[in-house]
Amino acid sequence: NQSLLVDQYGRRLNYLRLSVTDRCNFRCYYCMPEEGINFAKRADLLSFDEMFRLAQVFCGLGVDKIRITGGEPFVRDGIIPFLYRLRTIENLKDITVTTNGTLTARHQSVLKELGITKLNISLDSLDATRFHQITRRDSFNGVFGAIMTMLEDGFDIKLNSVVAERKNVEDILPFVELTRNHNLAVRFLEEMPFNGSEHFAHDGWDHVKILEHIKMHYPELDGVESGPSSTSVNYKVPGYVGSFGIIPSFSRTFCGTCNRIRLSATGELRTCLYGAPNANLRDVLRNGASKEELENLLLGAVAKRAKDGFAAEKMIPHSFNTSMSVLGG
Ligand code: GTP
Ligand code: 5AD
Ligand code: SF4
Repeated sequence: NQSLLVDQYGRRLNYLRLSVTDRCNFRCYYCMPEEGINFAKRADLLSFDEMFRLAQVFCGLGVDKIRITGGEPFVRDGIIPFLYRLRTIENLKDITVTTNGTLTARHQSVLKELGITKLNISLDSLDATRFHQITRRDSFNGVFGAIMTMLEDGFDIKLNSVVAERKNVEDILPFVELTRNHNLAVRFLEEMPFNGSEHFAHDGWDHVKILEHIKMHYPELDGVESGPSSTSVNYKVPGYVGSFGIIPSFSRTFCGTCNRIRLSATGELRTCLYGAPNANLRDVLRNGASKEELENLLLGAVAKRAKDGFAAEKMIPHSFNTSMSVLGG
């Protein structure tokens, strides 16, 4: 990691999470209410031209991985041509996508052609009824079918499952069992209080409890190596082809090595998921900023980055009332 975007604690940021829309065709209870949230107006969204220009600036400074997020990224018109353009950026080694999997089947061959084969797919249950209760949509069969088809086609798939009492605790062991014959990684996530609704009760399902629960049924687990800035701690049941991991997204044991910077669909720059926005790059761009001005803004914002955005906000993190769909995950 040779990125020039380095903070005062020596963390180099080479990973941009770029949200292309705050809209979604799901209504996951932990993310937004049934009626949705107050979605951004079209004119307030970064255009794809603006996103491309910003991506070039980020990559010029050393970003070499961009994860496309949402909302649901594939609901935004023009996303595929944008991915083709992103592919032309020289220093950009990795383009990945976080998606709910409802619209991926129709883009499968194009994604393959673009080498965008690493997908993180939200899947909170293996049971159609619980899936419906969680997402408020009846899409289990379509999403699960798409996942199976993409696996056969060689895609590298991680499933994200937000664990919560009375929602999907019954799914934890079946998810581990899914890794017996399927070459994928299931990740169990702690729920975070980002929801844009009033919902959130910490129910005790933290990373320790999730692992204990799994270990009661699978006492022998092998550790699996993961990258230095990985959010998940990973394991394998001996003999199983896939793996599983736990993301302490609420406990946040990984801030010390965090290499991420975020850009929301409306241009808000964040050096921490939990922090207030550092600047609005859309406004800066529309005011005619030059490449050098943008670079200096990014270098300055990153240099000042807090050790821990959560603590910096004095336990009332700015983002707590903001949906993940707006923050980009
Ligand atoms: P890769 O390592 O690139 O696969 O990304 P990821 O697993 O972090 O990405 P994904 O979009 O699948 O996000 C999974 C979850 O990780 C998010 O919903 C969050 O719960 C958590 N997460 C990701 N980044 C951060 C972060 O910077 N801080 C916190 N607290 N949680 C994060
Ligand atoms: N807590 C934990 N994870 C969440 N996600 C969305 N909202 C929350 C939340 N409140 C997850 C989704 C998706 C990932 C990017 O973020 O499951 O997979
Ligand atoms: Fe959509 Fe993801 Fe939010 Fe669910 S968590 S409503 S899939 S943006």
